[in-house]
Amino acid sequence: MTTDASWVTGDRDVTFDGVWCVFEHRSGNLVYAMQDVSFTVPAGQFVAVVGRSGHGKTTMLRILAGLQNTTKGTAYLGDEAVTGPSVQRSMVFQQDTVFPWMHVRDNVEFSLKSQGMSAAARREISDQKLEDVGLTEFADSWPRELSGGMRKRVALAAVMASGSGVWLMDEPFGSLDYFTRRSLHDLLIELWRESKMTIFFVTHDIEEALILADRVMLVRDGKLVEDIEVGLPRPRDEDVRASPEAVKLSKTILEHLGIREDEIVPELRTSEN
Ligand SMILES: Nc1ncnc2c1ncn2[C@@H]1O[C@H](COP(=O)(O)OP(=O)(O)O)[C@@H](O)[C@H]1O
Ligand SMILES: [Mg+2]
Repeated sequence: MTTDASWVTGDRDVTFDGVWCVFEHRSGNLVYAMQDVSFTVPAGQFVAVVGRSGHGKTTMLRILAGLQNTTKGTAYLGDEAVTGPSVQRSMVFQQDTVFPWMHVRDNVEFSLKSQGMSAAARREISDQKLEDVGLTEFADSWPRELSGGMRKRVALAAVMASGSGVWLMDEPFGSLDYFTRRSLHDLLIELWRESKMTIFFVTHDIEEALILADRVMLVRDGKLVEDIEVGLPRPRDEDVRASPEAVKLSKTILEHLGIREDEIVPELRTSEN
């Protein structure tokens, strides 16, 4: 095991303090991808970021990952401003985040290797993480020999191994079939309960948000329009998900996102002049 203190997971709050992110569209108009967004997420919380396409969800994660500068305002991990990428904050994308030219085990060990960890120490961690995601027998396989769901498990094992305390997941299971997604939901919750990392999980699927999250942040036009505690008991089995509380939450979320037949929200918001 590494002695690097950053390996301690999920021990610092995540804060957005008056964050703006404005892009110039090729037409010359300004796109307000984040507009004065402020929040604090306590360490270890599972947050779903929900919103329609083009409303700023990915921008929020990219700012947290240190991949996107803000126009104004600051993101913090604890009291440290986010100024660039760090192993403490890992992205998991919808597209495969595994390297196709590396065996499964090498994928899992990749960030440890770049941190300079010895082969024996890396092996110990990758053995454990591969076991955690149920892929022990596939350590020496190529990613192409695995199903889409299994490749997601590799990605989860790799983020676990990196020791990242903040997981930034951008519609990570969007391309998977329903049953594979459900089993990955269960796995993710299990990993989260054991490791206590802070998770930002972007989805436009309200059911997925309510299965997973402690809290749902609704993003619309780059603004945080609603911040909802999900008080549903865990595990969120079929009964919990069909309960009046869950149905009410789901309705509230739909209303805030403006998904009504009489309302059309344009995909791209630009300044008028
Ligand atoms: N690098 C960029 N340059 C110009 N516009 C961008 C850039 N990144 C995002 N945008 C715009 O910002 C808005 C929000 O994008 P994004 O955060 O990707 O939305 P979401 O993830 O919710 O679909 C969109 O209008 C998008 O076109
Ligand atoms: Mg996106």
